[in-house]
Amino acid sequence: MLDVPAQAAARFITFEGGEGVGKSTQVKRLLVRLNRLGFEAVRTREPGGTPKAEAVRAFILQGRSESWGAGAEAVLFAAARLDHVRQLIAPSLQTGKWVISDRFHDSTRAYQGLTGGVDDRLIRGLETLALDGHQPDITFVLDMDPATAFARVNARELEQALVQTGDRFEKEDLEWHRRLRRAFLDIAAANPERCVVLPANQSEDNLEHEVWDVLVRRFPEIEARGAWSAP
Ligand code: TYD
Repeated sequence: MLDVPAQAAARFITFEGGEGVGKSTQVKRLLVRLNRLGFEAVRTREPGGTPKAEAVRAFILQGRSESWGAGAEAVLFAAARLDHVRQLIAPSLQTGKWVISDRFHDSTRAYQGLTGGVDDRLIRGLETLALDGHQPDITFVLDMDPATAFARVNARELEQALVQTGDRFEKEDLEWHRRLRRAFLDIAAANPERCVVLPANQSEDNLEHEVWDVLVRRFPEIEARGAWSAP
C-alpha cells in the first residue's frame, strides 16, 4: 500500500527544448494520460497562455521586438510570464489542477541568456519577479540534433513560418541552434533535481512512454491511481 496523502498537491510540469523537437505533441499526450487517471490538468504554452501574454507573443514572434535587442526581449518574455503565472498557473495549482506548459522560464535562460548573451543577473532578476516562487516540479528537456529537428519539420510549414509570420527564432542558422541545444543541456546539468533530459529523436509513442515512466516514479500519487495498468 502506497503512503499517499489524500489531497496531494497539484504538480507543475514544463517541457523545454529547441525548435521542432516535438514538445507540443508530448504536452497534449500527457494531458490525455493525466485526465484518464482522473487528474484535472490544464495545458498551456509560453510565450502565451493568457490574453495579455498572447499579445506579447504576437508582438515578439512577428519580429517587432528584434531591433530592441535580446535584453529587452527577455523583459518582454518576463512580462508575459508574470501575467501567465498570476492569472493561470498559480490559480490552477491552487485549485488542484496540474499545469503542463509548453516552454517556461528555461527558454528565457537558454534563448535570451546563454545563447542571446543577456547578463545572468538580469535573467535571474526577471525570473524572481515573474515566477513569484512558482518553480516547475519537473522539467523535461527534449534533446535532438537541430539538423535532425529541422529535417523533421515539414518543408512547407517551415517556408510558411519564415515567409508569412517571419517567426523570430526559427530563422537563426544551424550553428546558433547548436549553441541553443548546448544551453538547454547546461541548464539541465545545473538543475539535476528538476530537469530530466530525454532523447527526442525517437517515435512519439516511445517518448510518451519515457515521459510517463519518469512521472510515475517521481510522483507517488500517479502510481496510486493505477498508472502502470494504463496503456
Ligand atoms: P513557438 O512557435 O511556440 O515555438 P516552439 O514550437 O519551438 O515552442 O515560438 C516560441 C518561440 O519563442 C521559440 O522560438 C522560443 C522563443 N522563446 C524565447 O526566446 N524565450 C522565451 O522565454 C520563450 C518562452 C520562448
